[in-house]
Amino acid sequence: MEPKAMSRPFYLRGEITENKEMGSLYHRLRISLPQPVGPIMPGQFAMLSIEENKDIILPRPFSIHDFDNGEDASRLDFLFKVVGKGTELLRKLSVGFPIKVLAPLGKGFPDTPPGYKILFIAGGMGIAPLFPLVLRMRKSPYPLHFFYGAKSQKDLICLPELLNVEGITITIATEDGTSGEKGVVTKLLKHDEDEGGAKTTIYACGPEPMLKAVADFAAERKMLCWISLERLMACGVGACLSCVVKTKEGYRCSCREGPIFESKDITWRDDAKP
Ligand SMILES: Cc1cc2nc3c(=O)[nH]c(=O)nc-3n(C[C@H](O)[C@H](O)[C@H](O)COP(=O)(O)OP(=O)(O)OC[C@H]3O[C@@H](n4cnc5c(N)ncnc54)[C@H](O)[C@@H]3O)c2cc1C
Ligand code: FES
Repeated sequence: MEPKAMSRPFYLRGEITENKEMGSLYHRLRISLPQPVGPIMPGQFAMLSIEENKDIILPRPFSIHDFDNGEDASRLDFLFKVVGKGTELLRKLSVGFPIKVLAPLGKGFPDTPPGYKILFIAGGMGIAPLFPLVLRMRKSPYPLHFFYGAKSQKDLICLPELLNVEGITITIATEDGTSGEKGVVTKLLKHDEDEGGAKTTIYACGPEPMLKAVADFAAERKMLCWISLERLMACGVGACLSCVVKTKEGYRCSCREGPIFESKDITWRDDAKP
C-alpha cells in the first residue's frame, strides 16, 4: 500500500474567512478558495504565503486540518502554532485578507488493511493532520484508539473536537501532568503492550524524536506504522531539495514523496534520537 497523491496542486488567491485564537499561541485559519482544488486526503498539506510581504518571501507548509467537501474542497481549515515570523504574521491576518494557497500537496495517509486495530499518536501540533484522518476512519468496525500528548493541558487544543467524535478511545499525556498521564505521549505506548501484535496500524505525527520512538515500538512488534514527517520546506513541489529525507531506498523529497512515510523505511537523523 502506498501513500496516495490525488489531484495536481495549483496556486490560488484565497480569502481568510476566519482566524480564530484558540489559546495564546494557537489559531484556526479558515480560507475560502475561488475554485475547488479537488479531493483532499488527510495528511496532505498546503503552502501558504502572504502576497506582497517583503519580510517573508518563502511560503510556509501547513497540514490541511479540515475541508468542506471530500470530492472537491474549496474551503480549507488550518490549525497553527505561532513559532516565528511567518506564523506571527498569519496570526495577525484579519477576515477578508487575501492569502496565496498552493494545495493540495504531498501524499495522504493510506488506508488500513481490513481487520486491523488503529492507533493514532499525536504530539502537539501533530494533531493537525491526524484529526481529519480520525473523521474519515470513525466508522471503522475495528477499534480506534487515540493517544494525544502535549506539553500542558492548554496545548491540547483539539481535545474538545476529538471528544465529540464517537467510537474512539482517547488517552492523554501532558509533560507537566496537568491532564492525563504525566510525561511524553510515547509513555502511553505501554498501554498497548497487552493487546499488541502485528494486526495494528499506527498513524503518527509530532516532533521527530517522538516519531522515532513510535517507529521503534512498531518495528519491535512488526506493526504497520505511517508517520507524517514535517521537515523544513521552501517550495513544496520538489524543486529546492530543502526537505530531503534519507530512506532505505535513497533520498526522497518529503514535500512530493511524503510527508507520509512508512516508518520502517526511514533512516533517522541523529537529532531524532529521543
Ligand atoms: C508538511 C508540514 C505540515 C505542517 N503542518 C503544520 C500545522 O498544521 N500546524 C503548524 O502549526 N505547523 C505545521 N508545520 C510546521 C510549520 O510549517 C512551521 O511551524 C512554520 O513554517 C514556521 O514558520 P515561521 O516563519 O513562523 O517560523 P520560522 O521563523 O521559520 O521558524 C521558527 C522556528 O520553528 C522551526 N520550524 C520551522 N519550520 C519547521 C518545521 N517544518 N518543522 C519543525 N520546526 C520548524 C524553526 O526551525 C525555528 O526554530 C508543518 C510543517 C510541514 C513540513
Ligand atoms: S520543499 Fe522544495 S523540494 Fe521539498
